Amino acid sequence: PVADLLTPTRLKPVVAAKDFLSESMNVARRLVADRFKGDRVESLDAVQNGEGRLLVLEGEQVAAYREENGTLHVMSPKCTHMGCTVQWNSVEQTWDCPCHGGRYSACGDRIYGPPPQNLGEPEHLKKSSHQD
Ligand code: FES
Repeated sequence: PVADLLTPTRLKPVVAAKDFLSESMNVARRLVADRFKGDRVESLDAVQNGEGRLLVLEGEQVAAYREENGTLHVMSPKCTHMGCTVQWNSVEQTWDCPCHGGRYSACGDRIYGPPPQNLGEPEHLKKSSHQD
């Protein structure tokens, strides 16, 4: 009864290759184009309570989320899977990766999908903490 499932001819390499190529092109486009998203700001005061935003601060793209009580979280927006830029999902209050469906909490903790770890620290914060 499972012969159709096990036959080597069940695979359609040409069709699969098209899907693979299309997906790869989408990831490549996202990797490049999304790197420049985000409003340029002088300070993180631009982030309202309960809001997540992609911003460019001191020349670096960051993902910022401010809790309702005012506590601010600033993270690198690079997905820890393959480096695509996460997008703020205001309905779910999560950071979602458009490339392979990874999802992080508003504070950057990994929730779901292929990312192996939480969102990281922004590069400029890493540099300043290493200089201290
Ligand atoms: Fe693959 Fe984000 S790059 S889930």
